[in-house]
Amino acid sequence: MKNIGILTSGGDSPGMNAAIRAAVRTSVYHDLDVFGIRRGYQGMIEGDIFRMQTTDVSNIIQRGGTILKTARSKEFMTDAGMQKAYEQLQKHNIEALVLIGGDGTFRGAAHFFEKYTIPAVGIPGTIDKDLVGTDFTIGFDTAVNTAVEAIDKIRDTAEAHDRLFVVEVMGRDAGYIALYSGIACGAEDILIPEQHTDINAVLDRIDFDERRKKTVHIIVVSEHDDFGGAKEVKDSITARFPLLDVRACLLGHIQRGGSPSQADRVLASRLGFAAVNALVTGITQVMAGVINDKVVFTPFVEIVKDGSYVNKDMLEMIRVLSS
Ligand code: F6P
Repeated sequence: MKNIGILTSGGDSPGMNAAIRAAVRTSVYHDLDVFGIRRGYQGMIEGDIFRMQTTDVSNIIQRGGTILKTARSKEFMTDAGMQKAYEQLQKHNIEALVLIGGDGTFRGAAHFFEKYTIPAVGIPGTIDKDLVGTDFTIGFDTAVNTAVEAIDKIRDTAEAHDRLFVVEVMGRDAGYIALYSGIACGAEDILIPEQHTDINAVLDRIDFDERRKKTVHIIVVSEHDDFGGAKEVKDSITARFPLLDVRACLLGHIQRGGSPSQADRVLASRLGFAAVNALVTGITQVMAGVINDKVVFTPFVEIVKDGSYVNKDMLEMIRVLSS
């Protein structure tokens, strides 16, 4: 193996640049020629591929986003798209791939590798923390810290006005960002897709807090909770308690940006290093992750098959701590 390609795909996450840096520098250490593929699988289809040197990744470890840019490619889901992508890899003599992204990235990879043989190792880069095969995904820690900082600020103004706030955070189908940020901010309620939301129970808890004159009540809701997002929760509160002063706040894409935390930089560096070392030693079609502080490799097919689950202890804990 002489030439290696690197791409980032799906939603960007803080720490992707640190992973690119580690993968490029480890490749150079092994005397490999490195090619950056811009805009994920879409850039692969279009041949948006360029040679990378170690200096291309200087001063990026602290930067959010991804210098390789990213995309969600519908064309790559088609046979014709995959064929074009493979032809571009051949044209550039790319013999192995490092894929940095979330579940969509690995689903795409699994389909591609059913048809074409090319060694590849994945790195979990998503703020959602919704993958098996790793305790944490790159970007999750930073996204949660961003949400925590925002919710702390909301609590200040909520307290000043005796207002109730419903704060919606990202996570697609996973409630981890809501769970961790809600716990860290002492939220009065946390609503996540992994647990059915009984809206009447949520309203009863507000009623209880009102009676005991608790002035601040913050509900953190994950964007795809089964009941709905911040707007639906706010509307239900207003319908039952018309006199309450309620505001809904969507944190949105600020959760995806910003300088990565120490935890994300270290995780990304470890996984970028591990992914290239794995390819060099012949370990392929796996995602590198860290479980119990050890680097582990999980086959792409298992990553695609299993969703992550939320620890039941934490769900019980939030009920007790928020009362
Ligand atoms: O997967 C990362 C994520 O930020 C999810 O939390 C969110 O649901 C989604 O991407 C938003 O995607 P887009 O930026 O395409 O709107």
